[in-house]
Amino acid sequence: MNKIYFSIILSIFFINCNNSQSNKTTAAKDMITKKSWGEVDGKEVYLFTLENKNGTIVTISNYGGTVTSFVTKDKNGNPSSIIIGFDSLQPYLQQPPYFGALIGRYANRIGDAKFNLNGITYKLADNNGKNSLHGGLKGFDKVIWNATIPDKNIPALTLQYVSKDGEEGYPGNLHVSVQYSLSDNDELRIEYNAETDKATPVNLTNHSYFNLSGSAANTILDEKLMIDADHYTPVDTSLIPTGEIKPVKGTPFDFTSPKKIGKDIDLVKGGYDHNWVLNIKDTSMQKVAALSDSISGRTLEIFTTQPGLQFYTGNFLDGKFINRDGKPLLIHTALCLETQHFPDSPNKPNFPSTILKPGEKYHEVTIYKVKTNN
Ligand code: BGC
Repeated sequence: MNKIYFSIILSIFFINCNNSQSNKTTAAKDMITKKSWGEVDGKEVYLFTLENKNGTIVTISNYGGTVTSFVTKDKNGNPSSIIIGFDSLQPYLQQPPYFGALIGRYANRIGDAKFNLNGITYKLADNNGKNSLHGGLKGFDKVIWNATIPDKNIPALTLQYVSKDGEEGYPGNLHVSVQYSLSDNDELRIEYNAETDKATPVNLTNHSYFNLSGSAANTILDEKLMIDADHYTPVDTSLIPTGEIKPVKGTPFDFTSPKKIGKDIDLVKGGYDHNWVLNIKDTSMQKVAALSDSISGRTLEIFTTQPGLQFYTGNFLDGKFINRDGKPLLIHTALCLETQHFPDSPNKPNFPSTILKPGEKYHEVTIYKVKTNN
């Protein structure tokens, strides 16, 4: 049996075991539903709705594997989405900057849009100045994923995509599987699996933009952030890491205890758009960041197996796109906390390797957990 398929079956089995208690008490309502959402490249696009017993709802499309909304109740019991986005497919086709999408084959930038591997230079699309960003011209955010619902009684969705040898310049046929699931503890869990038939860089993430207040009328500058990282990777003017790993202590990059995002942002040219080197002990799942908002009473906790976190304060949002609440998405109206390997790792031998070899299994997990203080 295909190894990825086997690992999906195994994780569904575990989710099933974890949910068996709540299944006894919940009504026969489906915990995941599917509706037609349009067509792209002659292929049907769907929107899936995952709901848990608290009435928390996550909607995901197989177009780009995009999380379009994550609706939870605020401290007054009013539901709103903590993720910016749209309720229809059309605006996603106007290429917003990766709202909610799955990013691959390589999240963030590769310098000069090229890398060397086993004596061969691979040339990528230079879609961000002279660099390559988020997988190239048609990254995993713009493809149609094959979607399956493992069990309609469980709010979980499996997405699969085969990235062909040479696609966007990357070597090897890469079989990717991503499973989204929503727990009864309001955790959105994202599990990434991949296998290749030739050595290739792989760096997968989700590009959701959060605004915990639930409305783009508020900026994120008053939200408080903690990142469990004593170091970060400084960048050059084109946002490529210099290769240094510098301490955050005494700099605007210090989020080791909760700090308002707006406090030091003016000291960082262009705003935050950097990779933090997480204080990880090993490759097991760890809490690495927490974001909180006093308007809504919501807190978002992030757990991951990945070594890095890209914290981006929506510096390039310019009002071109209108959020579902009718508000223009202007600078700092949303932020990203992308769990990942470090940008430009294929060209930085001192960074943890992102090369996946045939016979190896890429496996990473990230959880976004929402809590609300009443
Ligand atoms: C990058 C930003 C970029 C944004 C949207 C983030 O991951 O770090 O520089 O503007 O994605 O493309």
